[in-house]
Amino acid sequence: MLKPPYQRYDRLYTYHLDAPSPPAIDDPDLIGVWAEADGSVVFFHRCKERLINQLCRDSGARLLYAADLKYEDWEAGQEITSFTVDNLRVAPVWEEGPADIRLDPSVIFGSGFHHSTRLCLEMLSKYQQTPETGIGSVLDLGCGTGLLAIAAARLGAEKVLAVDNNPMACQVARANCRSNGVEDKVEVRCLDLRQQCPDSGEFDLVIANLYQGLLGELFQRESFWGSRLQICSGFIGPMEEELLKLLPHHRIHFLERRQRQRWCAWATTRRNR
Ligand SMILES: C[S@@+](CC[C@H](N)C(=O)[O-])C[C@H]1O[C@@H](n2cnc3c(N)ncnc32)[C@H](O)[C@@H]1O
Repeated sequence: MLKPPYQRYDRLYTYHLDAPSPPAIDDPDLIGVWAEADGSVVFFHRCKERLINQLCRDSGARLLYAADLKYEDWEAGQEITSFTVDNLRVAPVWEEGPADIRLDPSVIFGSGFHHSTRLCLEMLSKYQQTPETGIGSVLDLGCGTGLLAIAAARLGAEKVLAVDNNPMACQVARANCRSNGVEDKVEVRCLDLRQQCPDSGEFDLVIANLYQGLLGELFQRESFWGSRLQICSGFIGPMEEELLKLLPHHRIHFLERRQRQRWCAWATTRRNR
């Protein structure tokens, strides 16, 4: 996350360690620590070779490799700027001017510039602004920066549960909820959906912008289809074919399918029993 004096991201200095949870790092140039099952990546605004070497000596962790790159390159070459979906304006924290959502995307998925996020946002906006759908509660599976969860709250949901298994994503999502004043409506939970998935029957809408393997697993669980509406994305052409085979067609039907470049999104609804 950005902390003073930093107001935007310029270069990222990344250190890939073999330790899943390195010792706590107290450094003014630290952006965050991305923990993975078999290692971690530490992100800084500046070169920290000496500090990392010291940390490795003290903790026994091993530096696998270090790299520095432009923030834009981390974001797939995309400059992160403001954009509008229907009448919802999203801006990064470093941009001035009016915005409905002000986001610090940090190094987490969910700046709003990936096609799958944008498709979800468009569909979320459409269904939340259709009064007949009456969406008061939303479950966001794989929340990343929290953008979709915050948007759901901005668009009127009173109860939003946002879940991610990446502790750094959860930290970033919580901070974004606080800075947008929706922390009383959005709860962020750090959970691995492969192990544990909240009961979707408690929500009007489930958004799942994930990846094919995890979507496939979730689609085969009865509990995934408990909400009235579902928005799913995170797949391209051939993956879509595979996922279609896993849908419980007797329980749900399609409301619509959208596509941006190669990325697809579906909106589905539960059949009346
Ligand atoms: C494609 S990103 C979507 C982020 C955001 N919702 C958006 O639309 O921009 C998928 C997110 O799912 C999270 N994720 C991946 N596997 C997960 C799992 N097993 N349990 C929970 N979250 C997971 C990732 O950490 C990542 O933040």
